[in-house]
Amino acid sequence: MSSSLFQSFACRGLTLPNRFVMAPMTRSFSPDGVPGENVAEYYERRAANHVGLIITEGTVNDRPGSANDANYPLFHGEAALKGWQNVVEKVHGKGGKIAPQLWHVGMVRKPGTGHNPDAQSDSPSGVTHTGKAVMDPPSDEEVADMVSSYARSAKSAKELGFDAIEIHGAHGYLIDQFFWDVMNKREGKYGGDLLERAEFAGDVIRECRKAVGEDMPIILRWSQWKQQDYSARLADTPQKMEAFLNVFKDAGVDMLHCSQRRFWEPEFEGSDLNLAGWAKKLTGLATISVGSVGLNGDFFGAFAGQGSEAASLDKLFEMMDRGDFDLIAVGRALLQDPEWVTKVKEGRMDELKDYDGKALATLY
Ligand SMILES: Cc1cc2nc3c(=O)[nH]c(=O)nc-3n(C[C@H](O)[C@H](O)[C@H](O)COP(=O)(O)O)c2cc1C
Repeated sequence: MSSSLFQSFACRGLTLPNRFVMAPMTRSFSPDGVPGENVAEYYERRAANHVGLIITEGTVNDRPGSANDANYPLFHGEAALKGWQNVVEKVHGKGGKIAPQLWHVGMVRKPGTGHNPDAQSDSPSGVTHTGKAVMDPPSDEEVADMVSSYARSAKSAKELGFDAIEIHGAHGYLIDQFFWDVMNKREGKYGGDLLERAEFAGDVIRECRKAVGEDMPIILRWSQWKQQDYSARLADTPQKMEAFLNVFKDAGVDMLHCSQRRFWEPEFEGSDLNLAGWAKKLTGLATISVGSVGLNGDFFGAFAGQGSEAASLDKLFEMMDRGDFDLIAVGRALLQDPEWVTKVKEGRMDELKDYDGKALATLY
């Protein structure tokens, strides 16, 4: 059993009792975008069971086309923010810490979907992942408002008493669409090479920092893979990754949440460091790793109802003890079992269950 997983961790004004993070997981249980009592109690159960930091499901900002499902929680408007206030109070009531994941789906949205079916979708340049131009590129004012929409969410997070924020820059959603040359064909600001494209998120981080002040940690989630192309890579050498991630470090980010499907897989040849391991080594920033913790199959099949078998945590203990990364996020295992961290803490490994593909239907 790894003792390092149960050591405390501090960053800016935040101290966590251990290294376990609940991974952000969209649950679509917020009709009309309002998280209700059932959602608050779902997070409260994790807070009561030793999860060090809860990162909420993606919660969408106030750009009209930010979502592609009206059951995703909003992060604006009186009713939704009141719902989030209740979530924060419930989690804090159990001594937990919580960060909202600030989200905009960009061109993943199909026209006619989400909370505002008539709204236009946002994108870097109106070009899809197949290279097809399907709408006009946004104006500079529209792009500036996309940046500010994250900061408006960040301001609300601060006002509601959240403990940190996570900016969703991964998985082929809006920010990642700016990173990716396939979908970002912009000329001028935020177009060009990888570092110029990264500046969109750089400005999001800078505006969010102004909104939350100096004592609130800002986390950026990023991934090489895109839902539109699992084999895509933004940075295929450590040198490129270092330059890319330093854009966010210079902008004032505190932690990098490095999303991969299987945490034990090395990122570059010649080293067994994973994505979060390299990000930490190259930037000196704190990093969060993730991917199939406690399970033997990755999460891509989860949306199609696929299950996964429980697996040993020995490799996680080894990498954590070695100090490869600072925190570890757990997705499906915690989605299904609110007591998962308690069981690990108490060494009740034989009680860690297989992941049931039907778990998505219930807020356990
Ligand atoms: C049902 C479900 C919803 C998810 N929603 C989000 C999300 O809103 N934001 C995000 O960044 N990742 C999302 N993910 C990815 C998870 O955060 C995590 O990276 C992934 O599940 C791998 O962790 P796991 O193997 O422990 O499940 C989701 C995953 C699942 C299974």
